[in-house]
Amino acid sequence: MAGVRRGVFITFEGVEGSGKTTQAQGLVDWLSEHNLPHLFVREPGSTAVSEMIREILLNPENKTMNPKCEVLLFLAARSQLTYEKLLPALHKKQIIVSDRFADSTYAYQTYARDLPQRLIAIFNRFATAGIKPDLTLLFDIDVTEARKRGIFDDRMECEEEDYHRKVREGYLKLAHRAKKRVKILDAAKPVEILKREVINNVKNLLVRKGYTL
Ligand code: TMP
Repeated sequence: MAGVRRGVFITFEGVEGSGKTTQAQGLVDWLSEHNLPHLFVREPGSTAVSEMIREILLNPENKTMNPKCEVLLFLAARSQLTYEKLLPALHKKQIIVSDRFADSTYAYQTYARDLPQRLIAIFNRFATAGIKPDLTLLFDIDVTEARKRGIFDDRMECEEEDYHRKVREGYLKLAHRAKKRVKILDAAKPVEILKREVINNVKNLLVRKGYTL
């Protein structure tokens, strides 16, 4: 840890049913086993205020929510999390593992709901003090396959399959633009193989950041 200047920020992204949450938990277990100081959060959520906003966002009864209200609520939840937990964790040189972050807003709102990209990027910078992940693992999978994997009943999950296809397309577009930061993993692979790929990617990052493993 001696050579580490600030914390490390790792995000997990993908459509629902991609298995990203299981993999994020797997990474957190590995960090615990190796006594590496870390913080595990989910978005929207992980603070009292952000969890309350999450409930509003995901409640299927809120059918009339308009896309601008939706994006502002996601950003509000993110802002609270950033100032309450993420910035202090980076300052304390912790490894942050976040189940979703700003790339979700790009894929689900900007791209899939066709909102103005530059404006939302500015709002996002305002909400988050401009913090950016050091590494993003994108769990890519065919939407029809992913939807066979569970029960999908919250407000976002209830959107049509075409919407979720657009979300996937948005993620892939973003990954193409940010090749150095975003690693695409084939989420159709078995859990154990994916876990190894996740850990290898994270090990490389940690070594680059000055950690001794
Ligand atoms: P989760 O169920 O994977 O925790 O994610 C919550 C839902 O919120 C999921 O459908 C993706 C969606 N979401 C957005 O639409 N925009 C965002 O910025 C974030 C963080 C999540």
